[in-house]
Amino acid sequence: MKAAVHTRFGPPEVVRVSVVPKPMPAHNEVLVQVHASTVNRTDCGFRAGKPWFGRPFYGLVRPRSTTLGSEFAGVVESFGRAVTAFQVGDRVFGYNDRTFGGHAEYLTIPDDGWIATMPANLTFEEAAPSTEGAHYAVGLLRAADVQAGHDVLVYGATGAIGSAAVQLAKSLGATVTAVCATAQLDLVKGLGADRVVDYTTQDFTQDEQRYDTVFDAVGKSSFGRCKQLMKPRGVFIATDLGPLSQNPFLALITRLGRGRRVRFPLPRNEPEIVRYLKDLIESGQFKPVIDRRYPLDQIVEAYRYVETGQKVGNVVISLAPSS
Ligand SMILES: NC(=O)c1ccc[n+]([C@@H]2O[C@H](COP(=O)([O-])OP(=O)(O)OC[C@H]3O[C@@H](n4cnc5c(N)ncnc54)[C@H](OP(=O)(O)O)[C@@H]3O)[C@@H](O)[C@H]2O)c1
Repeated sequence: MKAAVHTRFGPPEVVRVSVVPKPMPAHNEVLVQVHASTVNRTDCGFRAGKPWFGRPFYGLVRPRSTTLGSEFAGVVESFGRAVTAFQVGDRVFGYNDRTFGGHAEYLTIPDDGWIATMPANLTFEEAAPSTEGAHYAVGLLRAADVQAGHDVLVYGATGAIGSAAVQLAKSLGATVTAVCATAQLDLVKGLGADRVVDYTTQDFTQDEQRYDTVFDAVGKSSFGRCKQLMKPRGVFIATDLGPLSQNPFLALITRLGRGRRVRFPLPRNEPEIVRYLKDLIESGQFKPVIDRRYPLDQIVEAYRYVETGQKVGNVVISLAPSS
């Protein structure tokens, strides 16, 4: 089968499309013919081997997973003898940042992993990008305990995580202010934001509204800069460590006080999130934003584009048998 392979850490050019053996499902695994995947920031981190503290996961010296692709959508081709939850021909989607494999014509994944039958209302190319950014958004919104009636500000509302966060916070009943650049104001309003702030013409940290949660979804701000935006028991959540890697430390010390807090949850293995997202998609409360699509043969270009930091939502890799 065709797969995008890298055997050392480095820039997008370390990835080559090669012919490799088709995987065989173990007794508890499902074999999926991949129709679509994505290149996302998780794939980029694992390919580059950066940041360095991720090396126990990426591989200490060389990549642990030589074919990346954390998100996938496709069709079940076969499964191991212990699998009962899926049938041959099921349309499935999911997320796998343990062993990856979406950048290939076939992947295997345990049946109790992050895999579910696809939402009925999406194509493969729409389903594939619905888990990476969204699961980070779910984890952070849950850590902040966002509830109906809360005021939430999402800074970086056009990223994979930010565009999901706007929709997911709305689905929880929050009132959402979203911060993005001029060109994407209409797109972000269309995601359901109650108010949009253009960061190119206005400093969002000077906003007069006060928020229960400030969500830095592009890792470009800080608790210190956003503190004045927060209600007295408000919560700051962020996708990144912060400019001085301070967010985990701040999460520990603000937990002890009675004022504004930082939450920085460790990623947890919660496969139910895929089914939670499926329900939101089917009820029309979440739809992943798609920017560009590339065939597998152009995956290096896809990586280069994602690493500009300019993608709007998600970048899809098409592996449809016809493409
Ligand atoms: N290491 C990992 O494994 C990992 C995994 C996932 C995510 N992350 C981190 O999580 C963050 C978000 O990831 P993502 O995939 O959602 O990001 P993304 O999709 O790459 O975000 C890019 C978007 O952010 C916007 N943006 C850039 N600078 C901005 C600014 N100063 N203010 C507001 N918007 C800005 C860009 O549009 P404009 O520039 O046109 O405004 C673009 O639409 C990233 O910092 C990423 O490093 C890390």
